[in-house]
Amino acid sequence: VKKMSGLDLAGQRVLIRQDLNVPVKDGKVTSDARIRASLPTIKQAAEAGARVMLMSHLGRPEEGVFSEADSLAPVAEHLSGLLGSQVRLVRDYLDGVDVAEGEVVLLENVRFNKGEKKDDETLARRYAALCDIYVMDAFGTAHRAQASTHGVGQFAPVACAGPLLAAELDALSKALGSPKRPLVAIVGGSKVSTKLTVLDSLSQVVDQLIVGGGIANTFIAAQGHRVGKSLCEDDLIPEAKRLMEAARAKGGEIPVPTDVTVGQEFSETTPATVCGVAEVGGGDMIFDVGPKTAASYAALLKKAGTIVWNGPVGVFEFDQFAGGTKAMGEAIAASDAFSIAGGGDTLAAIDKYGLADKISYISTGGGAFLEFLEGKTLPAVAMLEARAKG
Ligand code: 3PG
Repeated sequence: VKKMSGLDLAGQRVLIRQDLNVPVKDGKVTSDARIRASLPTIKQAAEAGARVMLMSHLGRPEEGVFSEADSLAPVAEHLSGLLGSQVRLVRDYLDGVDVAEGEVVLLENVRFNKGEKKDDETLARRYAALCDIYVMDAFGTAHRAQASTHGVGQFAPVACAGPLLAAELDALSKALGSPKRPLVAIVGGSKVSTKLTVLDSLSQVVDQLIVGGGIANTFIAAQGHRVGKSLCEDDLIPEAKRLMEAARAKGGEIPVPTDVTVGQEFSETTPATVCGVAEVGGGDMIFDVGPKTAASYAALLKKAGTIVWNGPVGVFEFDQFAGGTKAMGEAIAASDAFSIAGGGDTLAAIDKYGLADKISYISTGGGAFLEFLEGKTLPAVAMLEARAKG
């Protein structure tokens, strides 16, 4: 695909779609990872003398109406602080925006515009008319075929990938396309149902798959153990068995926890008990892998050449059930492997234990990261590829 870094931006009207969908509380940005990840792109364009218009969605507001709660105003303010210069928030922009060379403005939440989510062609053409060059840099929203991520790119005079999008795709392709082996994937989170496709597709490319979190409970049940009152999807036990058999047929194994940490209720104060996987009682809820299991998973991670991490292996928000996730994070951080992590909960865990500097690449994508791992084509990327072919 065409890249922003190869273009002369001086004096051009450059419309950059970014994913500035960040958590906001009481009018303040509470986690600015996505904004910081977008900064190099913004600076590069502004320093090249472009007339920079940034666009993003925030939240999931009702289309066609403005709502203060979903305004990008806190993002404009935060971004101004990071850039050290005022970023103007433009509320009405569909008929054109005046931007000086080297200036950066932020267009208000694209999801206030009717037709954004359904990739409406009229809206996409209006976005396209704002610019000479459209830059798709929102990896986190690349799995959405919407007017600001997809349609606009079909009609803009020039459409290209921004540096962040390009870096994300490079890192993910490196991890999955030509990995240093063994390639180990660790997939946690609460439900097999939301991760079944990713488990399926990863199991075909990885040398070692590790499961944790609520997902592991279904695998524990598939081995015939009782899981008490734990989250477990009985209807997916056959799928868990199928994945385990497929791994065995390839000469490997999906390890199942040998010990677990249980509590009696989902609460920050419920006491934690460690027990063998065969000793889970009828009233127990499994909230984390046990220390023996964590150590054996960490040993598997230690042998890896490449690691892909999505999803915590326990309820790490509660400290008494955080041991497994902390141990996984630390094992990944200590490893020499090329490591890549993504997903909201995973990033929160990485932040909680201060491991960000020791992970090779941290993706800004949640849903998009997962869809890439699932082997799906991201519509925004497909659009750029189609444009590159002419
Ligand atoms: C995300 O946070 O995963 C992206 O910004 C996409 O948001 P969406 O799920 O509301 O489309």
